[in-house]
Amino acid sequence: MGPVADGAAVSDWAGVRLHVVTGKGGTGKTTVAAALALALASEGRQVLLCEVEGRQGIAQLFDLPPLGYDERRVATGLPRDPGGQGGAVHALAVDAESAMLEYLALYYRLGNRSGRALEKFGVLDFATTVAPGLRDVLLTGKVFEAVERNSRNKGARVYDAIVLDAPPTGRIAQFLGVNGEFGELARVGPVRGQTDRVMALLSSSRTAVHLVTVLEEMPVQETADGIADLQRDGLQVGGVVVNLVQAAALGQPELDRVLGGAVSREAVVADLALGGVPDASPAPGEGPLHQLVDELLTEARDHAERHQVEVAQRAAVTALGRPTYELARRAEGVDLDGLHALAADLRRQGMA
Ligand SMILES: Nc1ncnc2c1ncn2[C@@H]1O[C@H](COP(=O)(O)OP(=O)(O)OP(=O)(O)O)[C@@H](O)[C@H]1O
Ligand SMILES: [Mg+2]
Repeated sequence: MGPVADGAAVSDWAGVRLHVVTGKGGTGKTTVAAALALALASEGRQVLLCEVEGRQGIAQLFDLPPLGYDERRVATGLPRDPGGQGGAVHALAVDAESAMLEYLALYYRLGNRSGRALEKFGVLDFATTVAPGLRDVLLTGKVFEAVERNSRNKGARVYDAIVLDAPPTGRIAQFLGVNGEFGELARVGPVRGQTDRVMALLSSSRTAVHLVTVLEEMPVQETADGIADLQRDGLQVGGVVVNLVQAAALGQPELDRVLGGAVSREAVVADLALGGVPDASPAPGEGPLHQLVDELLTEARDHAERHQVEVAQRAAVTALGRPTYELARRAEGVDLDGLHALAADLRRQGMA
């Protein structure tokens, strides 16, 4: 792609057309995929945001009715400059049934009616029983079609980038790599040619697999394992997005004092008394103020411990040696404005 005309900084993934977003369940894959799509869709760029798990996560995030197999515009992208223009984010929920009917129509010129008949007789269920990898082949096949589409296909929308809200880390290598195995099964015919082409795209530098994590031990370990698996399969590992980062409410000296047990209830109560909050305990060490201070100290200790884990896990993420991007936990949750804010954060850090 090279430097962009408006002089803005080139993103870390300028040569990538297919962005696959994976990660441990619940770490924010769908949120990050949507924010990345918004960030990529600047200055008239057209971006397709796809999901493949039948969860309708994108529709929920954008507060829209369920998405179908038709690509629908869901948002305006984030402009590069304050006065600039946004492109468009379109969304698509890929399901294996529709992908199969489209595939058959394309390769065997089957009309809609024969397709419906196949559907009615449960052909896909039968076929996926015989070849369990078929479902994934159909799903990645549709994503491939959207990536490779060009202006020669009349009436079809051509995208500058595709973002895939992918299955979680535990299943991603199989989801993306299954085409290789399936290609072995179908040695001849259009399926073989198709799976070879899909694999060629997925294992090229035009595809990057980004991993989302949070700063906890299990998800970070899963990220490390995921990176190793992807590299072993010859897929390009993209960035690591550290999501839901908690801002430290206390400075390091205070955190250290809390962790070291150097802050006692009596000292806080005495400080409060100096500040004009009287200790109205019925007896020394008892009463509502002491109880309140106890609860606050417990909370402070939890916070300090969580922060300590975050510091250790951030170091573990750095040791993975991948470009890393951080997104703060938004106390108010993630609505469309929140998504734009997350997109701006990703942009600022060079992910898009
Ligand atoms: N940066 C953030 N700040 C606040 N809330 C967030 C943030 N990122 C994600 N969330 C919230 O966390 C929850 C999980 O996010 P999301 O659905 O994106 O995760 P996921 O990895 O796609 O989950 P699943 O594995 O179920 O598909 C959602 O309620 C989402 O709004
Ligand atoms: Mg999701």
